[in-house]
Amino acid sequence: MTYRIATIPGDGVGPEVIAAGRRVLDACGAAFGFAIEWAELVAGGIAIDTYGVAIRDEDVAAGAAADAIYLGAVGGPRWDDPNAAVRPEQALFALRGGLGLFANLRPVSVHPALVPSSPLRAELLEGVDLLIVRELTAGLYFGRPSEERRDDEGQRHAVDTLTYSEREIRRVVRLAFELARGRRRRLTSVDKANVLASSRLWRKVVEEVRPDFPDVAVAHQLVDSCAMFLVKSPAAFDVLVTENLFGDILSDEASVLAGSLGMLPSASLGERRTDHGIFGLYEPIHGSAPDIAGRDLANPIGTILSGAMLMRWSLGREDAAAAIEAAVARALDDGCRTADLLPAADGAVLGTQAFTDAVIERLGTVAGGERPAPAPTTVPKGAR
Ligand code: IPM
Ligand code: MG
Repeated sequence: MTYRIATIPGDGVGPEVIAAGRRVLDACGAAFGFAIEWAELVAGGIAIDTYGVAIRDEDVAAGAAADAIYLGAVGGPRWDDPNAAVRPEQALFALRGGLGLFANLRPVSVHPALVPSSPLRAELLEGVDLLIVRELTAGLYFGRPSEERRDDEGQRHAVDTLTYSEREIRRVVRLAFELARGRRRRLTSVDKANVLASSRLWRKVVEEVRPDFPDVAVAHQLVDSCAMFLVKSPAAFDVLVTENLFGDILSDEASVLAGSLGMLPSASLGERRTDHGIFGLYEPIHGSAPDIAGRDLANPIGTILSGAMLMRWSLGREDAAAAIEAAVARALDDGCRTADLLPAADGAVLGTQAFTDAVIERLGTVAGGERPAPAPTTVPKGAR
């Protein structure tokens, strides 16, 4: 069996973490008897420097032709000019929007060994296991107009547009309900319905979908209050579903629970199926971290765990996904840390590539005794 994965290393630490993730997935192939045909695409600041655009149409098309896309990060101070017409982040929007990847899954759990790495008290972190489902192809990120103008008096004005259709809300809400079914059956829908019309529609649609999932407990929560409860009682959450910008903000906040922004993976999914699962784009939630780029300092865990999600969702390889997750957990159990995490008492602080080696070494031991699980049909049970 050969799978096709398109990588987009991008900018900053992107190339380093993608190199790490690739090595882990190739090692999985060796352990479980499959091959990966890799293609490399150019996007972000590097594409602006090379081609004058954040991503070329042909690279979006090449990504779409693969079973999945594996992305590092885009952006950096070199391309931050607020007057620039071309920005690296446009590559993300071209991929997310262009490929219909409307649901962004951001699981957050706390490895016991990393509790001291979080600024929150240990007792608050006990039992934290939540999944943020962020709408990814509408809302403020895609609404038009989005521009700066001059009014009659020559004053500058800027406008962004927050727009949602019921279809855009319904499809991501339905997916969140399905995911909740495979977990603890609790769904929190996050909005700002006391202020925003788009949020009031969001709430109505959630209520319309709700009868189809009588076994899932639903709560509506305002985003400001949700931000507070995420640090006050994070273990109370199971699945959260929310619009694009709220999900962006809440997921960075939630990463503090896991000990570091470098820990968190993500999967962006749409409706399209491949031969093996659901087409998707997988990336760590951290950015390009230009301050540490090229120094072998980046935490590869978010990318490696994104690789596990890729195996699970797009390739139907629950065996490899579970093995990767177990190998990362075991490396942490054994005291391996990267520089962004608090060092273990008698463990080692490793660079990006050495930490990856530690994961690969443990992959062999966890892969040995496990049998391949069947491929998921719709939503894998207990999907994370
Ligand atoms: C993310 C990032 C992006 C976003 C940026 C880089 C445009 O923060 O994936 O969370 O806001 O979606
Ligand atoms: Mg973000």
